[in-house]
Amino acid sequence: MGNKFKLLPQLIPLFPENINTFYDVFGGSGVVSTNVVANKTIYNEINLNIVNLYRLFLKYTPEEINERINQYIEEYDLNRQGTDIRQNNPNVKEQRAYYNKNYIKFRKAYNESQQDYLMLYTLTFYSFSNLIRFNQKSQFNMPYGNQCYCDKHYEIIKEWCEALKNKNIIISDKSAFDILENENFESEDFIYLDPPYSNTTAIYNEKRAFGGWTIDDDIKLFALLDRLNEKGIKWGLSNVFRNKGIINHHLIDWSKKYNVIHLNYNYASLGRGNANSDEVYICNYTKEV
Ligand SMILES: C[S@@+](CC[C@H](N)C(=O)[O-])C[C@H]1O[C@@H](n2cnc3c(N)ncnc32)[C@H](O)[C@@H]1O
Repeated sequence: MGNKFKLLPQLIPLFPENINTFYDVFGGSGVVSTNVVANKTIYNEINLNIVNLYRLFLKYTPEEINERINQYIEEYDLNRQGTDIRQNNPNVKEQRAYYNKNYIKFRKAYNESQQDYLMLYTLTFYSFSNLIRFNQKSQFNMPYGNQCYCDKHYEIIKEWCEALKNKNIIISDKSAFDILENENFESEDFIYLDPPYSNTTAIYNEKRAFGGWTIDDDIKLFALLDRLNEKGIKWGLSNVFRNKGIINHHLIDWSKKYNVIHLNYNYASLGRGNANSDEVYICNYTKEV
């Protein structure tokens, strides 16, 4: 799953001040939800596999999560150090083959139940680029990625647990359209939207994984945003005018009614943010930054 982590320092200052309820309607990794200051935050994500992962942070303490992850690492003998081939280690190839085999065994065990989200969470520390992807039978199918669970991850778990418990973050698993159509937004609320990009091939946009995101979805979303604008509700939308040479004409035309900020796109996550892309933030309010 690609995320907005590297863009946060540019993005968050563009959000309105004094937000009552912050709606992160395409929540993904949750990095935006956990970093925004608001009285209340609704983290929403349609993909139940992701949402159920985050529900773990409400259910367990960081210590319990860390302990369970370490139990899995021990039980399946997953690597405690990265097995990147570029390492200066003569045995790295053998090690990689060994840990790859153990990873596949662990992945199979998860897929047999498809219910133990702490197992799925552990898998993401070992999967290729830490990505989450499922096949049509909802089986996790990312290959082994040579990294491993480490202290940095434990810190992230602590941050998430703390944010969910102390920052008044509510986890929701609705369709973004459902929220935009039916929620009773108030003037101090703010809606942030980071939908899948209709012209990218990022993994979270694959049909088999998340139902896909098409230009028709964009058009429907834009119409709902127009309606919210008429009602005086503030929103901000992340998207791309151009990505890998493909120009998003329907977005460019629609955005002319609003404020467009071109972000520094010099960051890379899977399928987005490259020298060929023009990452934008479109909003229906003005703010001096
Ligand atoms: C571009 S990603 C969001 C990334 C997020 N801002 C972050 O920093 O991690 C888009 C997310 O929208 C989710 N999504 C796709 N269709 C959706 C829908 N109809 N309603 C809600 N979420 C949806 C995808 O599963 C994906 O996680």
